[in-house]
Amino acid sequence: METKDMIKIEKYFSTHDIDSVADWVEEAITIKKNPLGYKEYGQNKTIAMLFFNPSLRTRLSTQKAAVHLGMNVIVMNFNGEGWSLEYNDGTIMDQGTSEHVKEAAQVVSQYCDVLAIRAFASLESKEDDYSEKVIKSFVKYASVPIINMESATAHPLQALTDAMTITEHMTKKRPKVVFSWAPHPKPLPQAVANSFVEMIKRMDVDFVCTYPEGYELARHITEGVTTTHDQEAALKDADFVYVKNWSSYADYGKVLSTDTSWKMTAKKMELTNNAKFMHCLPVRRNVVVDDEVLDGANSLVIEQANNRTYAAQLVLKKMLE
Ligand code: CP
Repeated sequence: METKDMIKIEKYFSTHDIDSVADWVEEAITIKKNPLGYKEYGQNKTIAMLFFNPSLRTRLSTQKAAVHLGMNVIVMNFNGEGWSLEYNDGTIMDQGTSEHVKEAAQVVSQYCDVLAIRAFASLESKEDDYSEKVIKSFVKYASVPIINMESATAHPLQALTDAMTITEHMTKKRPKVVFSWAPHPKPLPQAVANSFVEMIKRMDVDFVCTYPEGYELARHITEGVTTTHDQEAALKDADFVYVKNWSSYADYGKVLSTDTSWKMTAKKMELTNNAKFMHCLPVRRNVVVDDEVLDGANSLVIEQANNRTYAAQLVLKKMLE
């Protein structure tokens, strides 16, 4: 008989690939207690990790997770080291692109058993980004399972980590979780925000999302979510405060506000129920959040980063079993 932890997954493209958030979180926490207890899963298997963008946590934690499972790891920084890829069909490739994703995805698939890809939003074309042109092209042509290590619109490994971290630290049945926009000088993708909101909607929490006017996420993401432009009202009695910047979805990819009054401060955290502070990292100190909060006893950011390993290990294990 098949049990819940024996269900194999073919892709981890978004949080929608999780059948039960509660079961996955529980299993990730179990893996964390004995990460080296699953060595046989990845014996003689290889993961190829392709990075079109920089990374610290995703790169190292996914590699560590694969090693825990006994896998071999191939890592490639595609930008600058790989051929420039063409994604459109029927193109006369006499311009900047040197190789079509059709060949690239099939070729890479021969070298690995799992393919993990990081390809951020361009923030130039909402249509291209929200159609997930890069990662969906790999999904279309690859013959091995694919893991999204942050695509244009989603960061499901981070979201699984965040669900795990909240579950580990909740001290009441239905905690209040506040997700707050914060300022940032550069335009950032909506991927982390999208996946966090999608994940938290599936958890039994009191959830509020707060951001300035013009920073509404896509309607399908925030459907059914309590949203407000009043950050201080949102923070009242919060048990978890998750802070993240994202660029405008409506005025696509633009920085509409750098209003420093949205920065998370120790004074604002006093409005909460002694809330835990969360951020996916990397974070710009004293722009997004004050040192005092980030370095404070309630900051979970380092634990969050640690949990990235176990979230990735769970996803890989589910692909290998
Ligand atoms: N949170 C996160 O994805 O970190 P990296 O960009 O360093 O991988």
